[in-house]
Amino acid sequence: MNIILITGAGSGIGYETAVSLKAQGHKIYGGIRSQQAADKLRQNGIIPIKLDVTNEIECKQAVEFIIENEKRLDVLINNAGYGLFGAVEDIEISEAMYQLDVNLFGMARLIQMVLPFMRGQQGGRIINISSVGGRVVSYMGAWYHASKYAVEAFSDALRMEVSDFGIDVILIEPGGTKTNWWETAVKNMKLRSTGGVYEKAAEKAADGMMKLYSSTLMSKPAVISKAIVKAVHAKKPKARYIVGFGSRSLLFLHFILPVRWYDWLAKHSI
Ligand SMILES: NC(=O)c1ccc[n+]([C@@H]2O[C@H](COP(=O)([O-])OP(=O)(O)OC[C@H]3O[C@@H](n4cnc5c(N)ncnc54)[C@H](OP(=O)(O)O)[C@@H]3O)[C@@H](O)[C@H]2O)c1
Repeated sequence: MNIILITGAGSGIGYETAVSLKAQGHKIYGGIRSQQAADKLRQNGIIPIKLDVTNEIECKQAVEFIIENEKRLDVLINNAGYGLFGAVEDIEISEAMYQLDVNLFGMARLIQMVLPFMRGQQGGRIINISSVGGRVVSYMGAWYHASKYAVEAFSDALRMEVSDFGIDVILIEPGGTKTNWWETAVKNMKLRSTGGVYEKAAEKAADGMMKLYSSTLMSKPAVISKAIVKAVHAKKPKARYIVGFGSRSLLFLHFILPVRWYDWLAKHSI
């Protein structure tokens, strides 16, 4: 049995992963931000823990609470994240900083806090939920992709630093998955472009994203959670797991197409 902390465990991929790992016999601490999410986790035997990843104190308290109770922490799954979409001109730098605070620094904050314990116990696994959007970009997603490209670079660099201590760093790269993520991304995009020069383009892109979201093409969160569970259990886990709708085909197209052809495709395919 592993002691596991997963952030953003109240919905989507995080929730599905927490439930699956619990069913496999692990002890799960699920980071949440609302009472409703806490109740949902409790019903599934998961221990809810108040954890906004942008809040230094809550991060520290969460890690200390687990270490105090369990004397160890085997796996940290950095899943919390959201998509800030819209034209670069329409997004305030303060909003972009918040995007990075959640998707990148939130992850880094917890990693810094758990590493001394993982080093002390001579082992541990850090699983970062990136995105296929950490390897290729989509239209009007500059800040989201900047955050996920950074997650990729950070994780690859960290993997080398901590390998001597028996700690592994693994990236999960989901493609399109049916969760609340899409509505948040699309709502932001429409809201920010209203009355501006990008309004029409943003509306078209947002409609395209919603059409895709409503289609049957999207992967279920269970498809992604299965890969995460694999990464927890594998004796020799892969450095990255590419999984879910469109992920492999997008990476392939990005690899074979000239850059401007890929740009055209990304801009006109939604
Ligand atoms: N859905 C996709 O197509 C897709 C594709 C590739 C990668 N991903 C990545 O997968 C991860 C999970 O997203 P999802 O698709 O499962 O979407 P989701 O259902 O919206 O889940 C995101 C979770 O992150 C939490 N969260 C957001 N900001 C937070 C903060 N400041 N502190 C702590 N928790 C916070 C949310 O909590 P609240 O409920 O309290 O807001 C929510 O539980 C994200 O990193 C996302 O970028 C998703």
